[in-house]
This record gives sequence, C-alpha cells and structure tokens, in this order.
Amino acid sequence: MKQVVASVIAKGEPITGLVRPHGRSIRFSQTIRLKCPEIAREAQPGQFVMVCCDDECVLPRPFSIHRVNDQGDVSLYFAVLEDGKGTDWLSQRQVGDAVALFGPLGNGFSIRQNSQKLLLVAGGMGIAPLYFLAEETLKKGCSVTLLYGTAVRNWYVESLLTSGIKLIIATEDGSVGYHGMITDLLPDYIDWADQIFACGPMAMYRDMAQKKRELKLQGKSVQVSLEIVMACGRGVCYGCTIKTRQGMKKVCQDGPVFDLDDILWDELNQS
Ligand SMILES: Cc1cc2nc3c(=O)[nH]c(=O)nc-3n(C[C@H](O)[C@H](O)[C@H](O)COP(=O)(O)OP(=O)(O)OC[C@H]3O[C@@H](n4cnc5c(N)ncnc54)[C@H](O)[C@@H]3O)c2cc1C
Ligand code: FES
Repeated sequence: MKQVVASVIAKGEPITGLVRPHGRSIRFSQTIRLKCPEIAREAQPGQFVMVCCDDECVLPRPFSIHRVNDQGDVSLYFAVLEDGKGTDWLSQRQVGDAVALFGPLGNGFSIRQNSQKLLLVAGGMGIAPLYFLAEETLKKGCSVTLLYGTAVRNWYVESLLTSGIKLIIATEDGSVGYHGMITDLLPDYIDWADQIFACGPMAMYRDMAQKKRELKLQGKSVQVSLEIVMACGRGVCYGCTIKTRQGMKKVCQDGPVFDLDDILWDELNQS
C-alpha cells in the first residue's frame, strides 16, 4: 500500500442521466486520471484506493480502480452524489491539481488458472472495477462477455468497448439494447462461463442471491464486489464489518470482493 500525492492528468466530460432506484441521487458521473505509478504498478482488478478529499471531509473516500496504463496512470470512474462533499470536491479538480490518495487496498477478484471464459455483470457504477478486470484478463487471452445494466443509456460505457469484449447492454427505459434488467439476461450466458464476476447495487446482488434457480446460478460461484460505507479503509476502525458464513469480515481488508453465497444478505443493512 502506497500513500501518494498524484497530479490530475485528465478529466472526462460529466455524464448525466444516471439514476439510482434507492438511496442517494447522482448529479452526474465522471472519470479522472491521476499520475501515480507507485499505485498503478501494484493494482489488481477489484482493489480500490482511498482519496483524501478537501479539509471538510475528515475521512478519505473509497473508489475502485477503473483503469491503469503503462505510463503509471490510475483512472477512477465516480458518481457525484447529491450533497456528496467528497465526490463534489473530486469532480472540481482540474488538470495539474494535486490529489492525495493511498492504495491499492483490499482483496480483488481471483481468476482460476484454467478459466478462459469470463462473464462480467455490471449494474450502473459497477462498471468501474469490472472494466479493469476485463482489460487485464483480455491481455491474458481470456474471452470476456460484459453484461451492462443501466437505467438510461450511458455513452461513456459504450465508448469503452475495446476489441475483444463482447458487450451486452440492458436499459430500464429501453433506449438501447435489451429493455429491462440486466439480470434477466443472465440465464443465457451462465452455461458459457467458466467464472462469473459482478459489481452493482445491493438490489442486484439480493436479486441474484434470491433467484439463484431462476437465473441458473445454482451451484455457481459468483464473485461480487461490495460497496459499503467505509471510514479508514485499512482495517483499523471495524466500521465496515459484515456478517458472512465464514464469520465477521472487514470489507476493506477481507473484501471488497466476496462470494455471493458467503454474504448473509438479510443481515446486511445497506441499500
Ligand atoms: C470499495 C469501494 C469502492 C467504491 N468504488 C466506487 C467507484 O468506483 N465509483 C463510485 O462512484 N463510487 C464508489 N464507491 C462509493 C463511494 O465511495 C461513495 O460514493 C463516496 O464515498 C461518497 O462520498 P461523498 O463525500 O461524495 O459523500 P458523503 O455523503 O459526503 O460521504 C459521507 C461518508 O459516507 C461514506 N459513503 C457515503 N456513501 C457511500 C457509499 N455508497 N459507499 C461507500 N461509502 C459511502 C463516505 O466514505 C464518507 O465517509 C465505492 C465504495 C467502496 C466501499
Ligand atoms: S473501513 Fe475501517 S476497518 Fe474497514
């Protein structure tokens, strides 16, 4: 884990139209690229960084590593929340500004040696860590199918389509791709996949956990990345502790990636 002060290399245009069915609303989403070779070198898909936002934010904010490149840049893709102090601050950084952060943190996705065909299921902002996983596994020669579900069309995600990834989109308003929820499409791809990875809202995970038979997920292992409120991000405060079938676990240190079946979803009090 490295603590660094990175400089902002690039910022994406704000992407509007994202909606969340529960909880905080999103003003817009945005990418930011930071020069931090110390973190880029060590980063693994599914890991995250803690960003120290302005002085008003006492606690650092967790963000998944979205992309890394050979020049030592780390990109984040983040939602700017209504009344969100940290995400608002981050969205106002300009090229050349300094941003303090530490990472990479947590345990990311684990890919079995003999896995060739990977199914990635992203809901909304869940694309952030899964795109990093897609890029890294394509480099290793895996076949990647990415199911992306969103409320309304997200041009940024469509622009990410690099050669090799099979991208299937579902929108709740029917503006592009399948009209409905991305989990409706899961049964068509399960038999193809050697391994399944997911990142999205709690509602998507609860749906997957409750409808295992319907979604053809019975007997399948699904690695999910949990987005939960965190304070320290490094195992000190116990604020992110959850109940699992393997006992109490700290999401920041033992996760954020867990097996779908290990989480006691009824005991998890997050929306
Ligand atoms: C491992 C992990 C990876 C994440 N990756 C991403 C990502 O790639 N892109 C993205 O848009 N968001 C991501 N999040 C959620 C992101 O951390 C929150 O949206 C952000 O912290 C909100 O900060 P704020 O200051 O704008 O909101 P405020 O409400 O001002 O923050 C208040 C406090 O609550 C915490 N908090 C509030 N909402 C959340 C939440 N949903 N999840 C976690 N902590 C929260 C903050 O850390 C902070 O301590 C991730 C969360 C975790 C745990
Ligand atoms: S956030 Fe402090 S222990 Fe996990």
